[in-house]
Amino acid sequence: MDSALPTTQTKTSETGTTRRDTVTITDNRTGKSYELPITHDAIRAMDLRQIKVHPEDFGMMSYDPAFNNTASCISRITYIDGDKGILRYRGYSIEELAEKSTYLETAYLLLRGELPTAAQLKDWQYNVTHHTFIHESIKKFLDGFHYDAHPMGMVISTIAALSTFYNDAKDIFNEESRRKQTYRLVGKMPTIAAFAYRHTLGMPYVYPDNDLSYPGNFLNMLFRTSEARYRPNPTLERALDILFILHADHEQNCSTNTVRGVGSSHVDPYSATAAAIAALYGPLHGGANEEVVRMLHEIGSVQKVPEFIKRVKAGETKLMGFGHRVYKNYDPRARIIKRVAYEVFDLMGKNPLLEIALECERIALEDEYFVKRKLYPNVDFYTGLIYQSMGFPTTMFPVLFAIPRMSGWIAQWEELLLDPEQKIARPRQIYLGYDTRSYAPIEQRL
Ligand code: ACO
Repeated sequence: MDSALPTTQTKTSETGTTRRDTVTITDNRTGKSYELPITHDAIRAMDLRQIKVHPEDFGMMSYDPAFNNTASCISRITYIDGDKGILRYRGYSIEELAEKSTYLETAYLLLRGELPTAAQLKDWQYNVTHHTFIHESIKKFLDGFHYDAHPMGMVISTIAALSTFYNDAKDIFNEESRRKQTYRLVGKMPTIAAFAYRHTLGMPYVYPDNDLSYPGNFLNMLFRTSEARYRPNPTLERALDILFILHADHEQNCSTNTVRGVGSSHVDPYSATAAAIAALYGPLHGGANEEVVRMLHEIGSVQKVPEFIKRVKAGETKLMGFGHRVYKNYDPRARIIKRVAYEVFDLMGKNPLLEIALECERIALEDEYFVKRKLYPNVDFYTGLIYQSMGFPTTMFPVLFAIPRMSGWIAQWEELLLDPEQKIARPRQIYLGYDTRSYAPIEQRL
C-alpha cells in the first residue's frame, strides 16, 4: 500500500467484466450504503467513521483487541506468510540467509534495505565493532544490581540508561545521529548482555575483543576466564550467528509494536528499544524459551509426556514453545534451529531434555487438539535446549533473543519515523463504564 490515500479503482478483467476495488457496506440501522476503497486487501478504518445514524454521532470504529486483524503500518522490511511458513527479510528467505549470511550482514540488510557491498560491509563491521565499549559509569550502574537480578531486567534498565549518556540521540530526524545510535545500540547490546551475565556470577567483566566476530566477541565477553586470548569454538560461534540471524526481525510482533508505539512519541531510540526489550521479557513472547526448559524439567521424563499433554488439552497448562499468532504451520525458524541443535549437541553432548522435547513434538503433531488449532513448534521450542547446551543459564535465554532483535527494532523504528502517514500511536476504546455519577462524601459510602 503506498502512502497516498487509496482511490477507488476500476479494472477490466480478461473476461471483460469490470472489477471495482471497493467494498460496499450497508448499515441496516439506516439503510444507507457506503462504498469504501480497498487497497492491498485492506480498508482504512477511518473510512468507517462516515457510517453514522445521527449526524452528531462519533461514527463507526473497528474493534480489534490484540490487533488480530489490524494492520498498523506499511512496512517493507519483513514478510511472513504464516499459513505457508514463509519468513523473508527484505525479500530474502530466512533459509538462504541462515545458510549464507552472517548476523551483521543481515542486520545491515534489515537496516539499509539492501545487502551490503564488500566495502559497505567492512565499514559497517568497523563501526559496530568500534562502538562495543561502554562508558565506565555503565559498569558502576550494573554493579548496583543485586547478585540475583534477572539479566533481562538489567539489560532493559541499562539500555534505557544509555539515553542519559548520549544526548545527541534526541535528534531523531537527523540521519547522521540515527546512524550513530544504531552503531551504538547494535555494538553495545552484546557487551551489556555479557556484563549483566558476569555480574550475576560475580565474575570480572571482560572487555570487547575487536579482532573477533560479533558472536565470537560475545562468547569471549561471556566465557573468557584466565586465557590470554579467547578463541571461540567455530561451531558454537556459527550456531550463535545463525540464531542471531533467525531472531533479527519478525515484523509487527509485541515488542516491535512496542518500539513503534513508544517511538511514535518521538522519544530517543534508547528509551524506545528499552521498552521493546521489556515487551520481549514476557513469557508469552521472548521469555517463552525459558519457560520451555522449565516445562521440560517439570515433565521430567519421556514416559510422563502423555500425562502432561493430557493436562494441556484439559486447559490446565500450555505446551510452551507451541503455537503462534501468525504461523499456522511449522515456524520456518524452528526447522533451521532443530538442525543447529544437533550440530551443537554433536559437540557438547546431547541435552537430556531433547528426548522429552521430541516426544512432546511427536505427540502434539499427531494429536487432534493441536492439529485442529494449527499449533506447531515455534522458534522458542528448541532454542532453549541449544542455549542450555552452550552453557547459558535459563535467565539468559531472552537476552539472547534481544541482542539480535535490536537491529530489527531499529529498522522498524526508523521506518516509522520516516513514514509521513504515521503519527503518535493512540488507539480508540469502546467505553462501557459508568455514565456520569455524583461524587459521594466518604461518610455516605457503603
Ligand atoms: N498450548 C496449548 N494450547 C494452546 C497453545 C499452547 N502453547 N497455544 C494456543 N493454544 C490454544 C488456545 O488455548 C486456544 O484454544 P481454544 O481455541 O480452545 O480457546 C487456541 O489454541 C488458540 O490460541 P490463542 O491463545 O487464541 O492464540 P494466540 O494467537 O492469541 O496466541 C501464543 C499465540 C501467545 C504464542 C500462544 O500460542 C501461546 O501462549 N503459546 C505458548 C507460549 C509461546 O510459546 N510463546 C512464544 C511465541 S513465539 C515468540 O514470541 C517469539
